Amino acid sequence: MRISLVLAAASPLCFGLGAACSSSESSATPLPITDAGSEESAPRRPPVDDDAGELGPTTGPALLSETGLYSDFASRTLAGELFTFAPRYEFWADGGKKSRFLSLPPGTKIDTSRIDDFTFPVGTKAFKEFRYDGKLVETRLLMKVREGTGNKSWWQVAYVWKPDGSDAVASPLGATAALGTTHNVPNQTDCANCHGGVSDVLLGVSAIQLSDPATNPLGALNAAGRLSTAPPAVIDVPGTGVVKDALGYLHGNCGHCHNDESVRLNTQTKMRLRLLVGQSTPEETGAYTTTVGTVMKHTLANDVTDVVVKGNPDRSGLWLRMGLRDFYGMPPAGTQVVDDVGRETIRQWIVGWQ
Ligand code: HEC
Ligand code: HEC
Repeated sequence: MRISLVLAAASPLCFGLGAACSSSESSATPLPITDAGSEESAPRRPPVDDDAGELGPTTGPALLSETGLYSDFASRTLAGELFTFAPRYEFWADGGKKSRFLSLPPGTKIDTSRIDDFTFPVGTKAFKEFRYDGKLVETRLLMKVREGTGNKSWWQVAYVWKPDGSDAVASPLGATAALGTTHNVPNQTDCANCHGGVSDVLLGVSAIQLSDPATNPLGALNAAGRLSTAPPAVIDVPGTGVVKDALGYLHGNCGHCHNDESVRLNTQTKMRLRLLVGQSTPEETGAYTTTVGTVMKHTLANDVTDVVVKGNPDRSGLWLRMGLRDFYGMPPAGTQVVDDVGRETIRQWIVGWQ
């Protein structure tokens, strides 16, 4: 069975609050205010993109049992040839437990000639399972259905598990408090907003994210003959200790939106949080070159204007916004709970930066 899916009614809100956001600013919802601290600015959920041109195909398998993740659905036997992987720097998902699988069509290779921007063969499928309270709540699918790169080539949807576990159903509009947990499932626009920020949609299947020295998943893919171009023998995140941890964290949680590729954000300000292969010192990374002295587009409470003020997290918009889950919260989607541990890493990094 295939279904045609209708996307969420166009939201009057706009994802790229400023320059990147023009066509839809007309209706009732006011544009973000600059005085984030004022009483009138009631918190609301993150802005979403209503530019359907940026979204992927809206038709795909209606049920998870039809996607090929399992060779035998009844016994939940996973298909052979699945590559199980974990990114070196996970995206914070409110404490949920995740499993990820990649499937490449037989005989195909990932085009790794551009080491920071892999291109995937048509037929590539990536799955990500989310468990909350021990329950499998949703299984997300990114499936490349046509040539080209970016959102327009990928079917992107979450399959929400039925309460009786008999199957999981494609849910293009997402779901609130799925299966009685506190977890909200993102809609297709959310998927596209995050996954469309890089060249060809997959975020954890990248040179840096597969570079964990303990497991070296990129090396394993190469050994299996699945990469077009052999990667450098060693790929690492620059720095040591809290600096390295902070750079990795910002890459995994923020860099897929805050980078040069992202059509919505590359004109907002110069802030860039994505790491690139070959950056060998912290000082070369965007987290160092584009944060201190950069004035944010939107001023925060207490007149905080700068992305980072060295040594002073409390005057640094980057750290402050990680502690919010209202309109100004970062990341603006995919999470409802602040990541206290990750945020502390960022605090220590800024404190130590003199
Ligand atoms: C707030 C940003 C965000 C949203 C929203 C989001 N993702 Fe992701 N997703 C990520 C990041 C970052 C990774 C890689 C890191 C990780 O897996 O922890 C990822 C990984 C994945 C993976 C594993 C393959 C890969 O790219 O590494 C799949 C599959 C996936 N997401 C599907 C989806 C689908 C489908 C949706 C919408 C229903 C969605 N995601 C919404 C950020 C997001
Ligand atoms: C889903 C994409 C997305 C992710 C992921 C994301 N951001 Fe953002 N971010 C945005 C958008 C859109 C804006 C512009 C809207 C605004 O200024 O409020 C923004 C603006 C910002 C700003 C203001 C800078 C400026 O240019 O004015 C900061 C600071 C920021 N984000 C930090 C972060 C941090 C830190 C993370 C990771 C913990 C993160 N963001 C993850 C989309 C994202």
